[in-house]
Amino acid sequence: MEKLWGGRFQGKSEAWIDEFGASISFDKNLAKQDIAGSLAHVKMLGKCGILNSEDTQEIIRGLNIVAEKLNKGELQFTLANEDVHLNIEKMLHEEIGPVAGKLHTARSRNDQVATDMHLYLKETVQNVIEKIHHFREVLVSKAEEHVETIMPGYTHLQHAQPISFGHHLMAYYNMLSRDQQRFEESVKRIDISPLGCAALAGTTFPIDREYTAELLGFSSIYDNSLDGVSDRDFILEFLSDSSILMMHLSRFCEEIILWCSHEFQFIELTDTFSTGSSIMPQKKNPDMAELIRGKSGRVYGNLFGLLTVLKGLPLAYNKDLQEDKEGMFDTAHTILTSLDIIAGMINTMNVNKEIMTKSTQKDFSNATELADYLANKGIPFREAHEIVGKLVLACTQKGIYLQDISISDYQAISPLIEQDIYDTLSSHTAVVRRH
Ligand code: ARG
Repeated sequence: MEKLWGGRFQGKSEAWIDEFGASISFDKNLAKQDIAGSLAHVKMLGKCGILNSEDTQEIIRGLNIVAEKLNKGELQFTLANEDVHLNIEKMLHEEIGPVAGKLHTARSRNDQVATDMHLYLKETVQNVIEKIHHFREVLVSKAEEHVETIMPGYTHLQHAQPISFGHHLMAYYNMLSRDQQRFEESVKRIDISPLGCAALAGTTFPIDREYTAELLGFSSIYDNSLDGVSDRDFILEFLSDSSILMMHLSRFCEEIILWCSHEFQFIELTDTFSTGSSIMPQKKNPDMAELIRGKSGRVYGNLFGLLTVLKGLPLAYNKDLQEDKEGMFDTAHTILTSLDIIAGMINTMNVNKEIMTKSTQKDFSNATELADYLANKGIPFREAHEIVGKLVLACTQKGIYLQDISISDYQAISPLIEQDIYDTLSSHTAVVRRH
């Protein structure tokens, strides 16, 4: 097939080499943005008198037909046409004939593809923000339900101090709030139009870049045309924000997986979010949580992939930049679906309040309470810490807990200890006193 850029070529192309260079298999995801960019561009060409109004209207009409076909799923993208830009231009040609060739006046695929990516990410990030927001709503409502649910708080995965399950959930709420903020703040660096930078040097045609930016809903335009066509920082930032988000989801999923285990039994996931085993009939596995934890790997990989692609690239456009897309699409799909899954999983989980609370009643997570109690009575905290440490040791040797020590034994240690020690040692009191 004849190439749209074939003028200076004599030799024949070879299909297997064309296939290596083509991006249509994945950049067809940008068809909607590509048509929107072309519509803005041609309207600007008309407004600036670069195309006459008849040609302008004809191209607009043709692009609208292609857009309609796209919506109906009727477009047939072909590898021979390399990428989404050339495919759409060919389709336009099929609709309106040679006048289609005027669309590419004062434009290059370099500013075209960058424009498509900016448009795509702007929309995607908005979607991500909404999904994070929804997940935060789920977290806050679960946390409200569990203000009074006592659970062991951990450090080193060892019982540390009793906390409320709501408190624990709100830690994730706060992480997710920072994630949302990061995505929100990134928008101003996505919301910039590269259209009109052309190949790298700008154009001799009297274009109006502000006008296309306005038509496409961009807040500003790139100042420097070389930067405009070769900047992929906004994608890196998306991948980096996504990596931090996935790290948070992965940490949460790790806890969910632990909590579902027979050893913990703190929560149970609904059947919808669990799967069985093909051999062990009793199994109910938290596969979805494991998958989110696992998928953080590909998101980090996509970040490192693009960082590596960009490192050492000379200005301005290089074909290496075509490698920016698959990781971005994959990341967008991964984080959007992971957010849906985790929100549904947390919203429907069953919390075994009793088991959670009970596990704070047969442990030493009240040791700090006793040390604080003694410190409040005037014993230096270091000394109190030592006394309680020895008591814990003695208890472990006898197989009892601090709350099992009799008042007379306590008073033998320090006459300052009174009957109210038992209330102090209850996990409920420990949590309530920290409100
Ligand atoms: N498919 C290309 C990409 O994704 C579009 C830009 C091509 N530009 C070029 N000068 N070959 O980067």
